[in-house]
Amino acid sequence: MSIYPKKVTLIEVGPRDGLQNEATSLSVTDKIQLIDALSDTGLSHIECGSFVSPKWVPQMADSGGVLDGISRHENIVYSALVPNQKGFEECVTHNPSEIAIFTAASNIFTQKNINCTIAESLSRCETILHSAHTQNLPVRGYISTIVGCPYQGKVTPNEVLNVAKELLALGCYEISLGDTIGVGTPRQITELLDTLLAHIPAEKVAVHFHNTYGQALANLCTALEFGITRIDSAIAGLGGCPYAQGASGNIATEDVVYLLNGLGIEHGVDLAKCVEVGQNICIKLNKQPPSLVNRAYPTHS
Ligand code: HMG
Ligand code: MG
Repeated sequence: MSIYPKKVTLIEVGPRDGLQNEATSLSVTDKIQLIDALSDTGLSHIECGSFVSPKWVPQMADSGGVLDGISRHENIVYSALVPNQKGFEECVTHNPSEIAIFTAASNIFTQKNINCTIAESLSRCETILHSAHTQNLPVRGYISTIVGCPYQGKVTPNEVLNVAKELLALGCYEISLGDTIGVGTPRQITELLDTLLAHIPAEKVAVHFHNTYGQALANLCTALEFGITRIDSAIAGLGGCPYAQGASGNIATEDVVYLLNGLGIEHGVDLAKCVEVGQNICIKLNKQPPSLVNRAYPTHS
């Protein structure tokens, strides 16, 4: 009998986590084309941009125009990332289906990323969650540096658990666990999920793996074994965090879909369409597509 879940959901973060770290800033039109193309792949959740300071992350400066310009499908969630109340207020004028907030398990990373401590960031989150709930907007919460931090080093499962409990208590419907610099291996992910899932139901946990050391798919398999059904991924494996040196691409949507097909797990996403979208975005970004995007994926027998 399979130890894996029957069905999972992919949360596409390429237009936000992918593009925020690219040297080439895409035009609003190109970003809209990317999201519209992703909307035709069968994905049901797309993070479209972020309402952070344009001085900190210039690549995301036009996220309002992006949300305004996309062709929305009724059954797709179009979300955006917000760091504070100012970002929230701007974001909601562009009609997101839901928002995502973010903090980390490492204080020093939080300081570098959003210029405040974890405690201060949770207080900002509380304000945003209060406003979001008065507008019936669901809120997803990211926790970065779940196993390692570029400044602190090792991060313990209990440090993550404390923040996860706080975000859920404040009203996030789900926590996305970010291995921001991709240092985790299945052993660390096992230790983390052992601790977390003793307190939090698996349905409320998503995984967000970066692939710096090629561990993302192995870590995803581990998470699937724990019954995790919510998976963040980015088309063409784009991505990284500008405030985490060494943070390279996210786990690639194409690779995740291929893996899930092979494991016989339902997900609703069309692999061939994803590969095409991945190739096109790499051309726009003037970057050599990663070998995985060039590869013709065989079909599983
Ligand atoms: P700050 O400089 O401390 O903010 O930045 P402040 O409140 O002191 O304000 C300074 C100026 O910024 C003011 O403008 C504010 O109005 C403006 P001025 O008076 O100087 O003209 N400001 C804003 N402008 C636009 N939008 C806003 C906003 N807020 C203030 N929302 C802040 C604090 C949080 C804004 C800043 O640190 C920031 O934008 N950081 C974002 C960093 C970021 O985007 N990182 C990447 C996303 S997280 C990630 O990638 C990890 C994840 O993928 C999971 C994983 O992989 O682990 C989610
Ligand atoms: Mg990320």
